[in-house]
Amino acid sequence: MIFKNKMLLVTGGSRGIGKKICYEFAQRGANIIFTYVRSSTEAKKIETELKKLGVNAISKKLNLNSNNDINKFADEIKKLNVKIDFLINNAASGVMKNSIETTEKHWDWTMQINAKGPWILSKKLSEIMNKNSRIINISSPGSSKVLKNYFSIGVSKAALESITRYMAYDLAPKGINVNSISASLLETDAIQHFPNQSEIKKILNRKNPTQKKLLTDHIAKVAIMLCTEESEMIIGQNILVDGGDTLLLS
Ligand SMILES: NC(=O)c1ccc[n+]([C@@H]2O[C@H](COP(=O)([O-])OP(=O)(O)OC[C@H]3O[C@@H](n4cnc5c(N)ncnc54)[C@H](OP(=O)(O)O)[C@@H]3O)[C@@H](O)[C@H]2O)c1
Repeated sequence: MIFKNKMLLVTGGSRGIGKKICYEFAQRGANIIFTYVRSSTEAKKIETELKKLGVNAISKKLNLNSNNDINKFADEIKKLNVKIDFLINNAASGVMKNSIETTEKHWDWTMQINAKGPWILSKKLSEIMNKNSRIINISSPGSSKVLKNYFSIGVSKAALESITRYMAYDLAPKGINVNSISASLLETDAIQHFPNQSEIKKILNRKNPTQKKLLTDHIAKVAIMLCTEESEMIIGQNILVDGGDTLLLS
């Protein structure tokens, strides 16, 4: 129970990596606030399951596409009179197109949800974060490598990694460590929206040096590691979690 009485707020906790993060932190004693956009029924189900682990759990709707909603959400959290120990900016969206087909509207949408939204939320919630707390942004290797049809998402993740460094510098004196985790491709709902499914399957089935499949657990466990006291001097770093996949030249 290393996180007993700690408070985690994770965006996009209703599915995939975010959902796994909720369970892993709850199993270690953390109280959870998680956000969703689409299904309040599914969110309530997760909330009930988390409570069965003996922690407090609250789900809240938050669409990062609206700055109004982000500000309203942050005000609601402040009214709960809680202090946050861990904020994980996990939610993301985006339009899967290359740099020529991407429109300005696609660009604005993706940058808002994946970069500007997490920045505004972090800025607002940093006001109610404890000393020795953590902000973790979930990124992807598409920030520095070309992945087909990943243009606006890749650019937004590059921005998110840069936001990580700047906020890490500005918030370190307040005892808030900011880092990002770069997750390699793994099976969640998100990748079903990629248009080039046969290529995606090839990447997913590619053997990394560990010979193990990358799972949402692996990402959640790195988030746990970054939230332990032992990681206190890790500031503004992007931790790549890919089982050594990118060590291979081809
Ligand atoms: N899967 C991968 O291969 C992979 C690789 C590298 C990085 N990542 C990153 O890991 C994170 C989680 O990805 P995932 O694969 O777990 O995704 P996922 O299964 O598609 O889940 C996305 C989550 O984000 C929420 N969300 C979607 N649009 C939103 C919006 N406009 N505002 C607020 N929340 C929104 C969703 O809420 P609803 O359930 O209500 O729709 C859901 O909880 C993302 O940052 C992604 O870029 C994923």
